[in-house]
Amino acid sequence: MFLLWVYMLYSCVGYCAPMPSLVVDNNRRKETGTGSVVGKRTENNARADLVSRLLPRLPPWVDIESDYDEPSVRTSSRDLLNKEIDAYRGVEDRGEMRGEGQRAPEPGAMSSFSNDLGSKKLPQAIIIGVKKGGTRALLEFLRVHPDIRAVGAEPHFFDRNYENGLEWYRELMPKTLEGQITMEKTPSYFVTREAPARISVMSRDTKLIVVVRDPITRAISDYTQTLSKNPDIPTFESLTFKNRTTGLIDTSWSAIQIGIYAKHLDNWLQYFPMDQILFVSGERLISDPAGELGRVQDFLGLKRIITDKHFYFNQTKGFPCLKKAEGSSKPHCLGKTKGRTHPNIHPEVVQRLRDFYRPFNMKFYQMTGHNFGWD
Ligand SMILES: *[C@@H]1O[C@H](CO)[C@@H](O)[C@H](O)[C@H]1NC(C)=O
Ligand SMILES: *[C@@H]1O[C@H](CO)[C@@H](O)[C@H](O)[C@H]1NC(C)=O
Repeated sequence: MFLLWVYMLYSCVGYCAPMPSLVVDNNRRKETGTGSVVGKRTENNARADLVSRLLPRLPPWVDIESDYDEPSVRTSSRDLLNKEIDAYRGVEDRGEMRGEGQRAPEPGAMSSFSNDLGSKKLPQAIIIGVKKGGTRALLEFLRVHPDIRAVGAEPHFFDRNYENGLEWYRELMPKTLEGQITMEKTPSYFVTREAPARISVMSRDTKLIVVVRDPITRAISDYTQTLSKNPDIPTFESLTFKNRTTGLIDTSWSAIQIGIYAKHLDNWLQYFPMDQILFVSGERLISDPAGELGRVQDFLGLKRIITDKHFYFNQTKGFPCLKKAEGSSKPHCLGKTKGRTHPNIHPEVVQRLRDFYRPFNMKFYQMTGHNFGWD
């Protein structure tokens, strides 16, 4: 089992680590032309779209992300990323499920509050994962705190843009005053093999935050997001199993792989002590946002400023909203697409996934000393 893992992670390093969603096996890719698009568009659909516009003749099965190693594309992607980030500074609603950077900026929504004093610093705290765990919600809630300044978009520095160097990274950061904490979030770091070493090179004191959620709901949410952009992809079931008859699960499918938290965490613990990593429950972030935010503020060494008073629960959405967003007097709700219908997954498939994840979940509870209650 362990060897299988090592193999999986290694075979991943060259091409899929920067984009975990790319782990779609080759057989499938050949079988179903569109299958290869499954993960490719999942994580940064907007960027993939921009790149495909730059390269309009790419046949659909071409692995666009691996083309980032081509200098011309990389240069463009860098510019595009900056544009996304600039756009984000003015965006008010940052629905987690939205493709990043897709929204047109709303001039003035944030910029009038942006801090012209101070200096840009490398982040002292990073939300490193997990995709579909609730990282956008957490970051938006945290931004309410006057001592936190955060990048809106996902820099993807430690996975896709590392060769641009730390100065490039620092340049993306907002200006901060003495005592303010600089943050960013890029959920793919958690599953990127090189990320822990790279972050520890930047600073061994970096505080790491991981929002985790039941791996099965996470996988379904991940799949649903992809499906909404690519209605022709195979069913959840057919992607989940290598062989439906034997019930063998395809752990190379990113939607499954990301949820094996214990394995990814192992990699981080080679570089960071456990007490430098905070695990936030994605479920509790919705049911008790103030409680989870209390833990996060303590972890960051900040005064507990974000409390119950900042939230109200929108029953229609089934999601907590901020009474006032940072730099705005209007309420701010996330989870806009929460109403998106999840495909009906057969209970038998869910049960099989429960059995599959159970030992990994148990290991994860043991490692973190926290029972997330997914079983
Ligand atoms: C799935 O497993 C069954 C039972 O071992 C086998 O007969 C079948 O050929 C397998 N199907 C595929 C597509 O590998
Ligand atoms: C609650 O959510 C619904 C559905 O998204 C929305 O129409 C409504 O305006 C929201 N209400 C408040 C008070 O945020």
